[in-house]
Amino acid sequence: MLETRALTAAYGQFRALFGVDITLAAGETVAIIGANGAGKSTLLRSITGVLRNAPDMVLHRGEPIGALPPEIVMRRGIAMVPEGRKLFPSLSVEENLLIGGQVRRAPGPWSLAAIYDLFPILQAKRLAPGTSLSGGQQQMVAIGRALMSNPEVLLCDEISLGLAPVVIRDIYAALPAIKSTGTAVIVVEQDIARALSVADRVYCMMEGRVTLTAPAQGVTRAEIHQAYFGGAA
Ligand SMILES: Nc1ncnc2c1ncn2[C@@H]1O[C@H](COP(=O)(O)OP(=O)(O)OP(=O)(O)O)[C@@H](O)[C@H]1O
Ligand SMILES: [Mg+2]
Repeated sequence: MLETRALTAAYGQFRALFGVDITLAAGETVAIIGANGAGKSTLLRSITGVLRNAPDMVLHRGEPIGALPPEIVMRRGIAMVPEGRKLFPSLSVEENLLIGGQVRRAPGPWSLAAIYDLFPILQAKRLAPGTSLSGGQQQMVAIGRALMSNPEVLLCDEISLGLAPVVIRDIYAALPAIKSTGTAVIVVEQDIARALSVADRVYCMMEGRVTLTAPAQGVTRAEIHQAYFGGAA
C-alpha cells in the first residue's frame, strides 16, 4: 500500500533521515515511536509531500509519489492529522470538517454524520469556532477533518500530545472504528504502551534511522529500550 525506500530528508544542510525503509499494508496499523528529534514527523512530512524527495523514495500502490506536492498526495487518499492539530481558527467545527471533505478522492464511509457518530461531542459543538474547543476536542476535529477525505491511509502525528489521559483514551477509542473501515493507519506516538496497544506492528526510530521493526504483540521492553536509546539495554 505504502512504502518508503532508502528515504532521506534534510532541512538545509541538516540531514534528518538516513535511509528509512518502512512498509504499510492495506488495513494495517503501524506505530512509529522514538525520542524527540528522532525524525518521526519528518518521515510523515516526506510521505505527505510537505518535504519533497526523489520520486521512488516513497511508493503508493507501487507508484512513485516522493516528488508529488501535498495536494496530489492527499487526492491519492493519504491524509494527515498534523502535529499541533492546525485547525482554521476563524471557522466553526463543521466548517473545519467540511474543508476536509473538499479533497475527497472517492465515495467512502465518512460524512459529517459519521464523524459526529464517532465523536458525539463535536455535533454539540458544531457551530462553535474550532479554537473555542478543548485540546482534546480540537484533536477530534483534526482527525475528523482528515477522515472527511475518505482516506485509504491516515497518518497521525502525536495525537495524544498534551492531552489528559481520559481524553487520550476517548480519542484512541475511535481507532477501531476507523480501522474497521479498512483504512490503513500510521500513528506516531510518544506513549509506547498506547502505541503498542493499537498497532499491528511497531517501528522505532533513533537519530533519523529505523532501529527496530517488530510485531506490536511480542516485542520486549528490552528490545524497545535498546532501539529507543541505543547502547546497552
Ligand atoms: N523545520 C526544520 N528545520 C530544521 N530542522 C528541523 C526542522 N524540523 C525538524 N528539524 C530537525 O530534524 C530532526 C528530526 O525532527 P522531527 O521533527 O522529524 O523529529 P520527531 O521525531 O518528530 O520529534 P518530536 O517527538 O519532538 O516531534 C530534529 O533534529 C529536528 O531538530
Ligand atoms: Mg514530531
